[in-house]
Amino acid sequence: MLCCIIYLFTLIISATCSLVPFITPCRNGNHTCTLASARAALPYIAAGQPELDLKPLDPLHIPIINITQGPLQLTLTDNVITGLKDCKINDIRLDTTKLEQLIVILCTTEETGNYKASGQLVLLPVEGEGKYNIKTRDMIFKVTTEITTVPGDDGKLHWHVNKWKHTYQVKTGAHFQFDNLFNGNEVLAEPIHTFLNTNWKDVMEELAPPVIHSILEAIVNSIKAFLKAVPIDELVLS
Ligand SMILES: *[C@@H]1O[C@H](CO)[C@@H](O)[C@H](O)[C@H]1NC(C)=O
Ligand SMILES: *[C@@H]1O[C@H](CO)[C@@H](O)[C@H](O)[C@H]1NC(C)=O
Repeated sequence: MLCCIIYLFTLIISATCSLVPFITPCRNGNHTCTLASARAALPYIAAGQPELDLKPLDPLHIPIINITQGPLQLTLTDNVITGLKDCKINDIRLDTTKLEQLIVILCTTEETGNYKASGQLVLLPVEGEGKYNIKTRDMIFKVTTEITTVPGDDGKLHWHVNKWKHTYQVKTGAHFQFDNLFNGNEVLAEPIHTFLNTNWKDVMEELAPPVIHSILEAIVNSIKAFLKAVPIDELVLS
């Protein structure tokens, strides 16, 4: 009886002591388990975990994004990005015996903030300053990271993201709204919006790379903070 009580007590303590109760550790190489575990953990990571130094990812605040692309100079400030908590993890390859890890996520996001534009966007002259709103439906991000093992402050082994790179694809569509283009001249602004929203694929190719880089950088920083706080033995069953 006493033995049972001690056993239960130990179970409760070890359960409450986990830094990351929302993570189900998997055996290395069990892809089904890793994918399910990552999917279950995403809402907790996106919500932010102050005790792990994880900042909330949704909404995500990015103070400034500069887009200089050929004849276009576009500055986006006070950017708020929503939707990341509802991203779907399509795939995750986490294999401790390999250097490169991979995650594929599908996201539908909305970006709002202030813009200041001058120059040309997809060959059309643009000029203006005001609020903007961009909606992107079904973006697929493929992020490859190079991970090494380092000792942490807790004396345990941790993963560390050395390098990362990404590719992306917008599957379904994008919608752009720039208020007050040409000083609010609707006669000039209306055809620009029609053009942008009809040719969203080309527009995304010009506008998206710096925006996506900033968003993914925030996600990778979150993953880095997470890995710094949580030792490998809480993430992978030995
Ligand atoms: C992989 O993990 C799942 C739990 O998510 C488990 O049911 C399954 O037996 C594991 N497969 C192997 C080969 O260990
Ligand atoms: C963005 O571009 C503006 C104008 O070119 C420049 O003054 C500013 O330093 C840039 N900011 C960043 C964060 O790159």
